[in-house]
Amino acid sequence: MDLVVVSNRVARGKANEPMTGGLAAALLPVVEKSGAIWVGSSGRVRDGAQKEPFAEIEALGAGALAMLDLPAAHYGGYYEGFANSALWPALHSRADLIRASEEDYRSYREVNAFMARALLRFRKPDTAFWIQDYHFLALGAELRELGVTQPVGFFLHTPWPAHGMIEGVPHHRELIEAMLACDLIGFQTDDDCENFLGCVQASLGLAVHDGVVKSRHGRTHVAVFPIGIDPEKFAQQAAKAASHPDVSRLRRSLNGEKLAIGVDRLDYSKGLINRINAFDRMWTTQPSLARSVSLLQIATPSRGAIEAYGNLQSELARLVGDVNGRHGEVDWTPIRYLNKGFGQTVLAGLYRTAQVGVVTPLHDGMNLVAKEYVAAQNPADPGVLVLSKFAGAANELDTALLVNPHDIDGMARAIATALSMPLTERRMRWEAMMTKLRAHTIQRWFSEFVEALQESGANKAAAEPLIAERPTLWPLRTVRSTARYQ
Ligand code: F6P
Repeated sequence: MDLVVVSNRVARGKANEPMTGGLAAALLPVVEKSGAIWVGSSGRVRDGAQKEPFAEIEALGAGALAMLDLPAAHYGGYYEGFANSALWPALHSRADLIRASEEDYRSYREVNAFMARALLRFRKPDTAFWIQDYHFLALGAELRELGVTQPVGFFLHTPWPAHGMIEGVPHHRELIEAMLACDLIGFQTDDDCENFLGCVQASLGLAVHDGVVKSRHGRTHVAVFPIGIDPEKFAQQAAKAASHPDVSRLRRSLNGEKLAIGVDRLDYSKGLINRINAFDRMWTTQPSLARSVSLLQIATPSRGAIEAYGNLQSELARLVGDVNGRHGEVDWTPIRYLNKGFGQTVLAGLYRTAQVGVVTPLHDGMNLVAKEYVAAQNPADPGVLVLSKFAGAANELDTALLVNPHDIDGMARAIATALSMPLTERRMRWEAMMTKLRAHTIQRWFSEFVEALQESGANKAAAEPLIAERPTLWPLRTVRSTARYQ
């Protein structure tokens, strides 16, 4: 079987370049090995006059990377507009930040249709298509419109919220129905899967049996595939990175002081304001921790043209300045705040230097930083992960110190607990997490999804009319019997 993987952002084969996307960085090594063709946006736009979509194609491992120039007239409405100002806030349960217009929705659909046309050039009789993420919810349906009968899969890297939240997105019914053109839809967690099936039932009145939905497109399998990392490779990178100049400079600058680290895209879903407030609270309530621990917060700018992101960047800079002003000393800066990205190797070294990893999103599909922090630790003296219970990663990394990111006092206490945790407890917690990471690698995620896609594509039944069945009051717990592929 030939595989075509599609995502908005793609990564080029240079592991040490800064990467903004968790998805792109995670997919790179597995796509490279698999021989798949990976198609995505080049980051450039082009006017719609050209006949054929323009793609720059380069070798990627045993396969290829095809980067498309997306249509200039629709790019803004698609990326900054519908994808990141309507879908992203809704998917992260921030109804207050949803901004949607008909024009943006039209652009989103245009770009999905454009991508479908571009993909035809990579189609062979035994090709399977694997669509990634919320940028392309309608791509499966667009492929079917063009006559594609090959297996089509979709994986959502973000959470899928409750029906009441997704109802805040105009055209949500159309989009959910379009998703059902796929043979297989994968989610990060049981909750996301349950929420989606609840929406299918509530919005479209379709029945769900054992994780299978029947629609006018035929049968769609819906299941959970939590994404992983390559923990051994990350551990090796972290050990090697100790001698990297950035890492040694950081270590030298600490003067025996402990370090906590946070690494995030600058996004309101990451809970950065609450995290800084928690450190502020900790230094206020436990002054003995001033000078003995500092925070290195890397916040890579992201989606800067969107108002909510610009506002967050200003608010965060002001807050960090305020906290540093109040707690700092002539020779001590409580928060080292950096607005830039780092390559994976340097990051691995920075994680290993920090005694505490703080990953406290308000809501996150998985959060691979949490997994990478754990994998980067020195087995003889591992650091402690403070993890939001609202990150998908908390399902597996349940021996981290789990926190509620809305509870500032609770987070302040957890960070202090992490700093004073005895070695035996740190090792026990870390080993339990490593066992999970080793069992659920990115390689396994990739191959299990592709296998399941092949199976569900092969079993696809004849089409049945949409909304033919009476809405069933489908009990949410039945989804527990849905296949779990990891
Ligand atoms: O699923 C989230 C995601 O698509 C990941 O790739 C990454 O965390 C982020 O969003 C990237 O966003 P952008 O491509 O807009 O920088």
